[in-house]
Amino acid sequence: MASRDCCYHCEPPEGRTVSADTVTWKDRLRSAIVLRGPRQRFAAWHRASTFNRAMEAYQRNPDAALDEGDRLLERLVYGWGNAAYVSETAYLRAALSATRAAEGPVLDCGSGLSTVLTGVMAQHYDNTVFSLEDQPVWAARSREVLDRFGLRAVHLDVHPLRDYGEFDWYDPDLAVMPEQFHVVLCDGPHGRTRGGRYGCLPVMRERLAPGCHIIIDDAEREAEREIARRWSEQLGVEHQVHGGAKPFIELRVPDRVGVSAVRVSAQSPGE
Ligand SMILES: C[S@@+](CC[C@H](N)C(=O)[O-])C[C@H]1O[C@@H](n2cnc3c(N)ncnc32)[C@H](O)[C@@H]1O
Repeated sequence: MASRDCCYHCEPPEGRTVSADTVTWKDRLRSAIVLRGPRQRFAAWHRASTFNRAMEAYQRNPDAALDEGDRLLERLVYGWGNAAYVSETAYLRAALSATRAAEGPVLDCGSGLSTVLTGVMAQHYDNTVFSLEDQPVWAARSREVLDRFGLRAVHLDVHPLRDYGEFDWYDPDLAVMPEQFHVVLCDGPHGRTRGGRYGCLPVMRERLAPGCHIIIDDAEREAEREIARRWSEQLGVEHQVHGGAKPFIELRVPDRVGVSAVRVSAQSPGE
């Protein structure tokens, strides 16, 4: 999977999938200088300045991104670039609403724009975000933006994927993480991971607060819908699929032990 239409900051070398091992300084130099004509340089400049201005507006008033239509979120998504991987506005809106309403820490699986935007919201409401990322190159990109905008509410670390037997997932340092998360955003690890995002529930189950709000991106993929069905079964709750072209899934950990189990009744995307 190669990303397309990326911005200056994140663009991997043409036609190649990015991993920490494959990007060299020569690749970066070539893509930043040699292969860039005036049109690409203008597009990169336009994205960067759109992103910076949108971030300043968003930081001044994070609630506006939720309460005043999608325009600001659209500018942030455009400005971030990395179009093949960045979260879309519908998922970001759900993630930010959940972060705003959260009574405690947020777990963000798969760093990027979601990390930065939930970080602003969390900082505004005196909350914290813990972000899991397995690829150093993408952690570095998120961290650069977090630092530039002074987002101290985010703890972002590289956690390589680990073999858990049935699946692979991040290897989080539970000793330094909160006892309870109130929101979980599942947008990583990347789709090629064995078991996809399934590992989040078994690995983090003990750290999910009663009522914890779980949001899974990319519900247009059968793999994500299957994960939601399995988690629903295991938690004894329903899940809902929301959105049209870029649907996402929501479910909640039961409020208390013994809550009545409701069988899964998922809608198809777009319903
Ligand atoms: C869907 S992305 C996460 C996007 C993030 N939540 C956001 O809002 O930007 C899932 C994972 O894919 C990897 N990734 C991101 N951009 C990539 C790219 N252009 N090429 C390859 N892998 C990428 C990163 O490891 C990331 O954690």
